[in-house]
Amino acid sequence: MSKGPEAPEPPLLPPSPGPQPAPEQGLHKGLTSYGDRGFSLFLRKAFIKGAGYTDAALDRPVIGIADTGSDYNPCHGNAPQLIEAVKRGVMLAGGLPMRFPTLSIHESFAAPTSMFLRNLMSMDTEEMIRAQPMDAVVLIGGCDKTVPAQLMGAASAGLPAIQLITGSMLTGHHRGERVGACTDCRRYWGRFRAGEIDAQETADVNNQLVASVGTCSVMGTASTMACIAEALGMTMPGGASPPAVTADRIRIAEQTGAQAVQMARDGLVIGRILTPAAFENALRVLLAIGGSTNGIVHLAAIAGRVGHAVDLHTLDRLGRETPVLLDLKPSGQHYMEDFHKAGGMATLLRELKPLLQLDALTVTGRTLGEELERAGPGYPQDVVRSRDRPIYPQGGMAVLRGNLAPGGAIIKQSAADARLMEHEGRAVVFENLEDMALRIDRDDLDVTADDVLVLKQIGPKGAPGMPEAGYIPIPMKLARAGVKDIVRISDGRMSGTAFGTIVLHVTPESAVGGPLAQVRNGDRIRLSVARREINLLVSDAELALRMQNHPVAEPTAERGYRKLYLQTVLQADQGVDFDFLRAAPAASPKGDPD
Ligand code: FES
Repeated sequence: MSKGPEAPEPPLLPPSPGPQPAPEQGLHKGLTSYGDRGFSLFLRKAFIKGAGYTDAALDRPVIGIADTGSDYNPCHGNAPQLIEAVKRGVMLAGGLPMRFPTLSIHESFAAPTSMFLRNLMSMDTEEMIRAQPMDAVVLIGGCDKTVPAQLMGAASAGLPAIQLITGSMLTGHHRGERVGACTDCRRYWGRFRAGEIDAQETADVNNQLVASVGTCSVMGTASTMACIAEALGMTMPGGASPPAVTADRIRIAEQTGAQAVQMARDGLVIGRILTPAAFENALRVLLAIGGSTNGIVHLAAIAGRVGHAVDLHTLDRLGRETPVLLDLKPSGQHYMEDFHKAGGMATLLRELKPLLQLDALTVTGRTLGEELERAGPGYPQDVVRSRDRPIYPQGGMAVLRGNLAPGGAIIKQSAADARLMEHEGRAVVFENLEDMALRIDRDDLDVTADDVLVLKQIGPKGAPGMPEAGYIPIPMKLARAGVKDIVRISDGRMSGTAFGTIVLHVTPESAVGGPLAQVRNGDRIRLSVARREINLLVSDAELALRMQNHPVAEPTAERGYRKLYLQTVLQADQGVDFDFLRAAPAASPKGDPD
């Protein structure tokens, strides 16, 4: 018996219910190159349907979620909860959430340094945003280098993007004292080195310094970048301060997901938010929070990705008129969870309002000024000071120049000893980290509290990766004698959780032949924060002769990422970005901080 006529084959791509996305939206974006767009889409849909998606789901705006959860990164230990909440927000707003992994970097689990890997993470973030179909992206970051890396990558990719901060850790308690990473880590380690506490107490406090998942609880680089991200307009209002394990943090995550869908619909691309006005606001906030010196490096790098300049001259100019208002460690007393209870960034921005560019657009589609109005009035609190009663009358950072740093250097004056900010002393030189480790604790080290410690070879190319080794330890014999601070100079960085009279980011660095390379034991060095000067007291002729007789061989590598890094990394004043990742300079509109 013959079969009847066969049913016609169903079309390869049956029409799906609901509105079809425009060809360059959602799953239709960035089709893989097979030479046949129809086939590329057919294949893409076939594979994603293997995960059980329907056509109705696949027709929605696609919101990528950059997942930086990692067992090596406890600062992102709440990533699974955040992703769940972001997905909820995306779906409530009618979008399709798509989680994807990227690199994750934790400060204590990255060798040689986290900074060495920041640009790699930014490239990963940029290329995964470009390569995969998405109409907007939620960037989940928190630990020091992750937020700048994500903002750099997203800025280069150019899509609508919104930052979700993982949030700070809770504080712990040790023998009746409140403690938190990492200012107290350094303080207790300093006490151990000075013989003030024994090994058992050091082990005990080690259990209390990080009381939950989340980022460091003081105004270190992570908290600094959280505040900067909100000041840039890149987070939901109030997105900087909720601790990692709170309901407030989860609610921000849900709102972030929903807002990402709205940004996709409105075409609110990142370039409309990262404007010169936004960078000026970010610099104001960096100064007013007594933020990490790393913040200026990261801001310069992010700005460079959209063709804007954030330079040391601008930082110093704004710093002279922007007081430190936030009473957080290491410049003050409190922790991030206290800042959140005090109202978070709305409280700070309200106080800074006369100094801000209120027309700057944010991810909500409203301006910073409009968001401040919506935040309503403040309430009594003791974490954010008023401008007439600041923690420190000027910004947290000052920019130094002189024959030791022709391209500039930074000092965090709000965390320095006022007695040492006008100081001349004898140089005690360490040629590199290994030299310092070998000699700094020896009893025969020729050093006094009036000397100036100099550490070379820890700049962007030295080490390499500009380690946070600028916080040179007090030599053991001075620490035992009760010395708490000493002038220190290097071309490296310092954790935002550290404190002391410490000159950082000396540019150009010693590894590329900067004058720092020519400092010798016994030279005199003069620091004047009031005059913004850092000078080696030798004649120009003598310095030139030393450079001629002792040229510096720049570090090189044979292969891999290290080779790329050493060949293309820029100096601190240009954000330690790779030269080929920066954008062409944008035209300077009205309001450009430069
Ligand atoms: Fe991750 Fe401090 S180590 S924020």
